Parts: sequence; structure tokens; C-alpha cells
Amino acid sequence: MLKKSFATVIGLAAAVSFLFSACDRKKLNIQSTIYVDDERDGAKIILGFSQIGTESSWRTENTRSVFEAAAEQGIQVLYDDAQQKQTNQLKAIRSFIVYRVDVIAFVPIVEDGWDNVLREAKEARIPVIVVDRKIKTQDESLYAGFIGEDGIEEGRKAARFLLQKYSDSTKKLNVLELRGTDYSSMAKERSAGFREVLLQDPRFCIVKSVSGDFLRSRGKEIISNIFAKEGSLSWENSSLDIIFSHNDAMSLGALDTLQLYGVNAGRDVTIVSIDGEKDAVAALREGKINCIVECNPRLGPELIKLVKTAANRNTIPRVTYVDGRVYSENDDFSLTQAVGF
Ligand code: AHR
Repeated sequence: MLKKSFATVIGLAAAVSFLFSACDRKKLNIQSTIYVDDERDGAKIILGFSQIGTESSWRTENTRSVFEAAAEQGIQVLYDDAQQKQTNQLKAIRSFIVYRVDVIAFVPIVEDGWDNVLREAKEARIPVIVVDRKIKTQDESLYAGFIGEDGIEEGRKAARFLLQKYSDSTKKLNVLELRGTDYSSMAKERSAGFREVLLQDPRFCIVKSVSGDFLRSRGKEIISNIFAKEGSLSWENSSLDIIFSHNDAMSLGALDTLQLYGVNAGRDVTIVSIDGEKDAVAALREGKINCIVECNPRLGPELIKLVKTAANRNTIPRVTYVDGRVYSENDDFSLTQAVGF
């Protein structure tokens, strides 16, 4: 089927009007809502990529990695930043369908609510790759495959670090969990894996679990609220021993507040985080974070391989997991490769 020109697409639906603003944009600019790296070239594979936003350094690096790998392989990218809204993602995916891209890749902000749009993509014979977070669907054939991290295993790794750190302790240990975005597969998986391992040991108790939406500002705010609620400037009154944070952004936000109140983070409270961004790795080296479960955002090269395979109408694996290491206070930092992103 003939691919449509931008002008035709714009004439077709208001929903795709965002394409217009970008059609003469030739420079790689991942801040923009939509990016097209060149005029349409019939020979090139076109990838429609719906990203959820820029909530963390992890996310920015993830987007950059996809752009870089696509550029290296001569793949054109139609990009949409959904600004953390599922409705924007649905619009973007529908626009990609109207534009008849070769492959659609999207990072689902939440698990549910994708079946209708995926059915439309399937009817248009456009393969869809789910990236980073998983979806729930009635019909697994609606997407070609998933590439990302195993959030359950990440949660387990965080818990295993704590079991090991406190193996000699006899006291009760109270945990505060800073959760990622509600209804996202990543927050659910990290919580589930963490609980599965940690709660086998009755000394541990998750006394509080609050959604911080993967945002630094929320990490800050949640800890400020704890101080405000206790009506005291003392961390001891919170009776929290451990913070398990679903990402570095929230951990760094938590650290901002803890430091403001003079809490000796890493000593008065143990912090276990996920990601491995530069500032968090620096905090680990300084002893303010105790453990980071690495979550690698650099999925671009693997994703682009899958895009090429799917564009050629070949099957891709149902699940491609990207593995990560665990960095902790137990490491010899002169030997680790933890540099962060
Ligand atoms: O889905 C991956 C998570 O989303 C990363 O851990 C977090 O930093 C990001 O915002």
C-alpha cells in the first residue's frame, strides 16, 4: 500500500496535526513533541515511537538511545512525547496508523486500555512492539513482542540486598516504599518482586507505600510530608529504617529532603533504589544510597534490531529482557563499572 505524504495525512485527521509542526524539522531534537529526521523516503523503514515523557534521566536516556540506534540504521522516527498521558499515546498511535508507518513502538504508561488501538494497528497490518513496560490484553496477538526489563526480578534484587545487609540484625525493620506510577506494570512488578522476597523474613514490615509517580519532586514531597506529619524535625520519630524507591529520581528527591533535615542518609536510613543514573551512582559512592539495582535504559540497539525484523514481516521474540547488575555499598568502587547515565 502506498505510504501517504505528510500533507495528505494532515488533511485526513485533526488528530495528526502534530505531524505538521515537525515536517520540516531535520535536526535530532528529542525535546520536541514530534520529530522526523528527514523528508519521507520510500526506501526507509519508518518507526512510529510513542514515549511517555521525560519524567526521569532514565527516560531521557531511553529516548536518546532509541533515536541514536535508529539514526545509525537509517530508520526514520516519528516521535511523540505523551507528557505522561495515556490519551496522548492513544492519539499518537492512531496518527502513526493513519500515516502508515512500518512499525509502531510504544512505552505504555499504564497496563490497561490498549486493546482497541492495537486492534486498529493489527487491521492496518502494522506490527507493534511494546517497550519497557508491559500491557494487559485480552488478545496476545495484538502485539508482536515486548522488549524491556524484568521488574519483578528488579524488586527481588532490591529485597535480596536488604536480607543480606540485615542478616545479623534481630530488630524489627520498617520499610517505606516509594512506588512508581500507579497502574504501570513497572510499579506493580517492582512492588511484587520486592514483597515476594522481603516478606519471607518476618523482621521486615512495609509500613508505608506511597506513589511518587517516578518523579524527583514527589520523592521530595513524600519525605517532607513525613516530617510534617510527625510534627518533628527528627527522623527517629518516623520509625522508618529503610526506603525502597522504585527509581533514582524519587530516591534523589527523598535525599534532598533528608539532607535538608540533617538526616544522615545511608546511615540513619538505608536507601535502596533502582536505575543507575549518574547522580544516584555518585550518592552511592558517597554512602548516601546503599544499593542501586541497575535498570538499563539503553534499549535502542536491541529495539531497532526488532524493528527491522518486524518491518520485514518476520516474527520477533515474544519477550526480550535486558539484564542489569546490582551496585551496592559492598562494592569496591575502584573496580566497578558503575558510571551512570
Ligand atoms: O519504566 C522504567 C522506569 O520509568 C524507570 O525506572 C524510571 O526511572 C522511569 O521513569
